[in-house]
Amino acid sequence: MKILTLGSLNFDFVYSVPHVNLEGETISARSLEQKHGGKGLNQAVALARAGAEVFMAGCVGEDGGELVETLRRSGVNSECVRVVEGRSGHAVIQLTDSGANAIVIYGGTNQMVSPEMIDETLARFMPGDYILLQNEISCVAYAIRAAKERGMLVAFNPSPVSEELKGYPLELADVLILNELEGQALAGTPDGAEAGAVLSALVKRFPKASIVLTLGADGAMYRDGACELSCPARRVAVVDTTGAGDTFCGYFLACIMEGRAPAAALNLAARASALAVGRKGAAASIPTRSEVESAVL
Ligand code: RIB
Repeated sequence: MKILTLGSLNFDFVYSVPHVNLEGETISARSLEQKHGGKGLNQAVALARAGAEVFMAGCVGEDGGELVETLRRSGVNSECVRVVEGRSGHAVIQLTDSGANAIVIYGGTNQMVSPEMIDETLARFMPGDYILLQNEISCVAYAIRAAKERGMLVAFNPSPVSEELKGYPLELADVLILNELEGQALAGTPDGAEAGAVLSALVKRFPKASIVLTLGADGAMYRDGACELSCPARRVAVVDTTGAGDTFCGYFLACIMEGRAPAAALNLAARASALAVGRKGAAASIPTRSEVESAVL
């Protein structure tokens, strides 16, 4: 069984700042680092480091060679990444001393994913293979429908939240992995609703999906038709939370694809993301399977 991550590839410009700046405020960054990220790339790398057979599809500009190289070095098959005209996507990330972040993304060539490219890519996959999507590229709704028509299993991470999300055929998703804000947006629950209420509303709206609700320092919750689980977050020193959710997604799905039970998948994903928040960067912070399994957490 293979998995295709159809998603974004970004250059991450990471500015270390004393605090995330406020409207109208100008602040000086202490340092700037350029790293590799994008939710698609990060999740593909996490899947590969977890041991899955993973393919990535997406679009980069002619400046995007390094991003493709990061995929290759991480063991991701990048044959379906296209080089198109334009500038690759990038993210402007403010990173505070406490490891929190605020991110602005510029879509660039991530917004040039087309139905034609999706059809050509999906032709390489079989019924029963997985596709993992996020919300940083064009044609997400088309990809969900086309993958489903091919008999693929659709996993969706609705990040970042956008107006378009409401129009996506999310009832077709087999797995939804989302954080509390994304959960609230999809469930339509009020701000501040308890995580349990958000999860219940999601289950009601998407009764056929397995749903993972990640809760940051409060761990994660899971529901499918057969079981309800929760998993604590590991207590670790936080350096940079960027990419921790992507690490969780990749590890969780890799484990599920191995046929492991959701409880084991949640546990491994929580361990992997705990290691990721202790390191700087997005893709760069994602641990290998052996690191995850041997860490004392
Ligand atoms: O989830 C983290 C990612 O979000 C970053 O790597 C950045 O590129 C944005 O897409």
